[in-house]
Amino acid sequence: MKAEADPNLIVYFGGEYVPLREAQVGILTHALHYGTGVFEGIRGYWNDTEQQLFLVRPVEHYQRWKQNCGILRIDVPASAEQLCEITAELVRRNSLRTDIYVRPLAYKSAERVGVATDDQDAFAVVALPFGQYLPDKGLHVGVSSWRRLEDNSIPARGKICGAYVNSALATDDARRAGYDEALFLNENGQVSEGATCNIFMMRRGKLVTPSVTENVLEGITRDSVMELAQHEMGLAVAERAIDRSELYICDELFLTGTAVGISPVVRVDHRPVKDGVIGAVTGEMRRLYFEAVRGNLQTYRKWLVPAFGSRQQAEPEPVGAASAPSNVAR
Ligand SMILES: Cc1ncc(COP(=O)(O)O)c(C=O)c1O
Repeated sequence: MKAEADPNLIVYFGGEYVPLREAQVGILTHALHYGTGVFEGIRGYWNDTEQQLFLVRPVEHYQRWKQNCGILRIDVPASAEQLCEITAELVRRNSLRTDIYVRPLAYKSAERVGVATDDQDAFAVVALPFGQYLPDKGLHVGVSSWRRLEDNSIPARGKICGAYVNSALATDDARRAGYDEALFLNENGQVSEGATCNIFMMRRGKLVTPSVTENVLEGITRDSVMELAQHEMGLAVAERAIDRSELYICDELFLTGTAVGISPVVRVDHRPVKDGVIGAVTGEMRRLYFEAVRGNLQTYRKWLVPAFGSRQQAEPEPVGAASAPSNVAR
């Protein structure tokens, strides 16, 4: 899905709540030229019965974001809890009573030529209505001829803007070749992850996923799935290297991520996964996950932060204004 945003949407930019059309950066912005930004992706799901929007694991997402910003030495002058409040405030100001996607972005904001970085940083948070990211069906995925970038080149776990050229190249090839999503191998030739998601396979009764040292993003959905597998489905989970050929002989395969949710894979490189239909474990995992993120499973309310009528009703203190880009319209 491509999310076209309303220019009147209120976003958090330069320490203020402003309409999207006013949230502009200059053409010489460092991050635009050199990819020196770090982003996050957070989902919010609308619960119609409770008339509530639940942000899914926002504290963990903001903690990961701030850690990843540290890799690029970008300072985000707000705590994870303050960032959650800013996000909830965006939901309220925009009356977002639907499923949403939240995109925090921190970046090197100096406007000049030269790759060396300095301490001029800025950040923004955008929350917008968002439906399905990948088609709602069993997917056909293709192993990409592009390799997953190495930790010693650009850390995949960092969600670093420039690193997503790797994902964009693979996705573009995959879509043009008729696949729904690209799968990356790492430089050792073993399975790493999808272009925008982690991967799980069922093999010999175990749920298997590449370990966090295989150049993957340390997915928060991946973590949720492992918890659901162990505690709700009684499944053993193994984090280990996966060979490409295991994709062709496994029993089930699915993708996980904030944007993709739990997406079943029924074909890989024109080969059916088992019988070519959505597997039982995948179907049940998908059901459990979506029940949990919509607030319908009491045990997993711990993952959710309500945006309406949430802890702090007063407008959160603006943060990060000092490092606002100089061209912010005020
Ligand atoms: C490359 C990549 N891998 C995995 C994921 C899944 O991570 P998460 O579940 O934290 O969204 C994403 C999405 O953010 C991603 O971009």
